Amino acid sequence: MANEKRSSFSGKLGFVLAAAGSAVGLGNIWRFPYLAAKYGGGIFLLVYLILAVTLGFALMTAEIAIGRKTGLSAIEAYKKLDKRFGFLGWLAALVPVIILPYYSVIGGWVTKYLFAFVSGNGAQTAADVATFVDAEGATKAVSFFENFIGTVPAGLTYAEGFGAVSPWEPIGWFMLFIGATALIVFLGVEKGVEKVSKIMMPVLVVLSIGIAIYAVCLPNAIDGVKYYLLPDFSKFSVKTVLAAMGQLFYSMSLAMGIMITYGSYMKKEVNLESSVSQIEIFDTGIAFLAGLMIIPAVFTFSGGTPEALGKGPGLMFAVLPKVFEKMWGGQVIGTVFFLLVLFAALTSSISLMETVVSIVCDKAKINRKASWLIVFVGAVIIGLPSILGYNVWGEVKIIGMQFLDFFDFISNSVLMPIVALITCILVGFVIKPQAIIEEVELSAKFRRKALFVFIIKYAAPICIILILVSSVLDAFGIFKI
Ligand code: PHE
Repeated sequence: MANEKRSSFSGKLGFVLAAAGSAVGLGNIWRFPYLAAKYGGGIFLLVYLILAVTLGFALMTAEIAIGRKTGLSAIEAYKKLDKRFGFLGWLAALVPVIILPYYSVIGGWVTKYLFAFVSGNGAQTAADVATFVDAEGATKAVSFFENFIGTVPAGLTYAEGFGAVSPWEPIGWFMLFIGATALIVFLGVEKGVEKVSKIMMPVLVVLSIGIAIYAVCLPNAIDGVKYYLLPDFSKFSVKTVLAAMGQLFYSMSLAMGIMITYGSYMKKEVNLESSVSQIEIFDTGIAFLAGLMIIPAVFTFSGGTPEALGKGPGLMFAVLPKVFEKMWGGQVIGTVFFLLVLFAALTSSISLMETVVSIVCDKAKINRKASWLIVFVGAVIIGLPSILGYNVWGEVKIIGMQFLDFFDFISNSVLMPIVALITCILVGFVIKPQAIIEEVELSAKFRRKALFVFIIKYAAPICIILILVSSVLDAFGIFKI
């Protein structure tokens, strides 16, 4: 990629839409709501919003400006700014390598749900299916979702006639999703997908508003609305900040070099600062709406118990089908919704795979086809443990986590904060904020200049160090956070 002549986005709208296409994805719709539900609702939302307008704004501005200034993708760009920071490009490149496989696992779950709705079986996804028996012989049912991914509740075994846990179904859907992503990247038809997604994204916003309004009007949902919107400061902890920060990076495709690559295609006359604001508003708006679709409904269907709120990665898949089931025309609305989510997920997974392919291409000095094959096969292999961890490898845990949760933790809570921290040090003290400011001011006055300098030099590094240190101490049990 580095040696090709760079084509640029036609204008500001083109740039904002392309960057938003990468940013808006499962992070907003699947990940944000389950974290917000788990980490105290309103307090998580508040911390997230504060981080978005401070850390998110500063880091996205810095990354896009670095890309536009150097005209290079991440690995080369950091090296060009300062030789000693070449390693940062490698560190950043590791993030999409870890994310792509498990992202595609979730993409597979979405594909499965879309097919269930398309084939007229949407209602099934809201039901409890397989029956289990416990040690005393009493029968118990699990949800469609748990049955699909193959989670067997502790102490239970399948009842007669219900088969056994099999990983083949989730593996099949994962292969379909990652296969589609790989095919699009192989054929080089990303532009076509982007065009479709430019129509789909506004539809997604409108539909999400509709579903959110419906969801907050369900019985008892108001308790959930309060939980989601009113911060309860007693629920604040360092973990809330760590989770919100990881989510910010993930959702806005920061701290992994992606925005640097996008910036390298941005024309000099496009207003950088207002582009950043628009991407942020768009991305945060969709995440906020997803929260409103899902969290109040948890109170309607499960009474908002800590267990229901802390469900984790399965939350959206457990809750939304129940909302659609109650809705008039829910089968059709659910179909359209999962189709739109699938598109949002595809544009993101394409941008993840593209990044990894071009890194392998540049660095291993092999042609694009060979590097595509390596990335595809590699992602499939790394993706499998994430599926099996929720399935036949249910007992296998790494520092107390399933594989999928572990990969998610390593990328979002460890690697990305480190990349962000080193980026702040590079910009704040080595190339100096002035270099970024000059780049931003090529197109227009940098209005939040003072805020930018303060965050990049002081607020962000101090905050990230404190959070990282306390979570390491926490992991070793030295200090409870
Ligand atoms: N930001 C995307 C999302 O929210 C995930 C992603 C990360 C996509 C990095 C591309 C690159 O789903």
